Amino acid sequence: MTAIDFRKEAQDLMEYTRSLRRDFHRHPELGFQEHRTAGIVARELRELGLDVQEGVGKTGVVALLKGAHPGPTVLVRADMDALPIQEENQTDYASENPGVMHACGHDAHTAMLLTVARILSAHRDALHGTVKFVFQPAEEGMGGAESMVKDGVLEGVDYVLAMHVWNDRPVGWLGIVPGPAMAAAERFQIRVIGKGGHAAHPELTEDPVVAAAHIVTALQTVVSRHVDPLEAAVVSVTMLQAGTAFNIVPPEARLEGTIRTFEPDVTREVRMRFQRTVHGVAQGLGCRAEIVLDDLTPAVINDPEVTKIVQETAAELFPEAEIDTTHRTMGSEDMAFMMYNIPGCYFFVGSANPAKGLDAPHHHPRFDIDEDALPIGVALMAASIVAVGERFAAS
Ligand code: NI
Repeated sequence: MTAIDFRKEAQDLMEYTRSLRRDFHRHPELGFQEHRTAGIVARELRELGLDVQEGVGKTGVVALLKGAHPGPTVLVRADMDALPIQEENQTDYASENPGVMHACGHDAHTAMLLTVARILSAHRDALHGTVKFVFQPAEEGMGGAESMVKDGVLEGVDYVLAMHVWNDRPVGWLGIVPGPAMAAAERFQIRVIGKGGHAAHPELTEDPVVAAAHIVTALQTVVSRHVDPLEAAVVSVTMLQAGTAFNIVPPEARLEGTIRTFEPDVTREVRMRFQRTVHGVAQGLGCRAEIVLDDLTPAVINDPEVTKIVQETAAELFPEAEIDTTHRTMGSEDMAFMMYNIPGCYFFVGSANPAKGLDAPHHHPRFDIDEDALPIGVALMAASIVAVGERFAAS
């Protein structure tokens, strides 16, 4: 281990981190529109003397920091985009952009990573290898990570790290889990095609509304009857649309929803059962179904070795912290595209404080974090980068 007191350095830079976070919070920008945010990020990184590249993956920013010692290249990523939500908080740093809000904490991620860059820039002498700071646009389902990957952001990268503030847990909690951490996400669209007609003469129709209703019910058995109870999976139907009038049986119905899984075996089984159920029920009720399945993101799978380094770093830095090594979420993250073939660790930093009323869930109009989480995330990320560089420089 190095002798750097990351905890103290992160605490000393608390005002820097907080003011950046609040500034980003006040001026949130949607995916691929993060021009102001990216401008500030690039400015701060240039001030540190880093080699900065803008416009990567449209509005992304990348900066390189070369350590004094040979070693691997560690990519560390923060996302910058906000959500289309009208903020309901009354704080003096509440969003000034109507209908747009940092309701997931990406403002905190961007601010924390800038502070990490600041700390590590002052410690090049302790650094093995190269740190690639990646500020990603459009994480919220718009393909920001893929867009940066397409622009070559993974070239030469040996390890990847990222973190997320986590309002499901209090400040002081850290979620650092080996293996699957966030789920693979798929979107499905189903057309149930029947035969429309007069509602008073159902015998002359093939009713897609009834078939769609049975499909929704039957899909509840995909997970409950076909997935090992010790594995995790979700099938959620979230949209159901049909019909135009009370006295017409419509010719078709439409369903949409999402499938979430961790393990490839489970994914295959759920997909197969899903398709069989939809087609079988539709056919049994005189209709037919057309299914479109879109892969959105693969699962975020943490590398056991890298994760162990982060866990050990956390235990050493924060002996009083609760380190949860089993936490997983059915949520998904496009960070999976950066971790797909490169070992890495994506960890969670508890950010709620129910006593202060700071525990609204992510993507909620009253979402806000306890800023005491900021220096924790900064210290853990900075120390983990150094530790990963050190460990793999030797091998
Ligand atoms: Ni997020």
